[in-house]
Amino acid sequence: MKKIRKAVLPVAGFGTRVLPATKTIPKEMLPIVDRPALQYVIDEAREAGIEHFIFVTGRNKGAIEDYFDRAYELEYSLRENGKTDIYDQLSRDTPKPGSMSFVRQQSAKGLGHAIWCAREIIGSEPFAVLLPDVLIKSKKSCLSQMVGAYKKVGGNVIAVDAIPHDQVSKYGVINPQKREGNIIQMSGMVEKPNPNSAPSNLKITGRYILQPEIMNILENQAAGINNEIQLTDAMARLMQNQKFYAYEYEGKDYDCGSKLGYFEAVLAYAKDHSEIGEQARSMIKRFSQ
Ligand code: G1P
Repeated sequence: MKKIRKAVLPVAGFGTRVLPATKTIPKEMLPIVDRPALQYVIDEAREAGIEHFIFVTGRNKGAIEDYFDRAYELEYSLRENGKTDIYDQLSRDTPKPGSMSFVRQQSAKGLGHAIWCAREIIGSEPFAVLLPDVLIKSKKSCLSQMVGAYKKVGGNVIAVDAIPHDQVSKYGVINPQKREGNIIQMSGMVEKPNPNSAPSNLKITGRYILQPEIMNILENQAAGINNEIQLTDAMARLMQNQKFYAYEYEGKDYDCGSKLGYFEAVLAYAKDHSEIGEQARSMIKRFSQ
């Protein structure tokens, strides 16, 4: 079984639901307390053993590349002023040279198309996909939990979570069959179903472990709902001839691409923050009185 070393992070989206904040700042760079949302996703992936990150970017996303670069003047000034804690933090967060690749999605043709843009860098290895809109707060990182499941069952593994039935039309939804612990066998999946015909209330949460053959399928995948090339449609085809499992992870996800989801994420991470957590908790209490 090949190790999951590479991860694809699609970051080309406009972030229209949190405009105008995202007019000049990529939505992935919006701060959750003192770290960009994207940094939490990188931390999650690193914990799972990811060594190489492939960003599928678009126009106006230069801040992401800059964020992962060294900032010599800043580092010099922090060292001169004895601010070693933040200096050490920046050093830990800066990736090793050569561990990141950037590829452009030249036109917004959907998530499936974004993943396909990374095919040359993925080559013939299984890989992870993390949608950076979605932050997952958990004891053990969500992708680590999935890698644990993958080591047991192999094939393809996608994260799922139960949601209120009236929400299913916003997500990819699976058709679950047999369950063993957190691992669920499936007979299908569908993107943004009508609640009346949805196969379940188990939504796909934006974390995937995929075999490289998905790229061949995406190569000729027709546009699906919303006239976009959907990763879910390609996965449903891959399921016909490869092992495919859903994994019900332990943790709570936040959709930072929406106003309320972003706000909730800030509250959730602030209340557990090592420096401001205690004050944040009493502040939240004051607001709820
Ligand atoms: C994408 C996927 C969908 C998944 C969702 C998770 O949808 O297509 O299957 O459930 O992310 O956030 P999007 O949010 O891009 O519409």
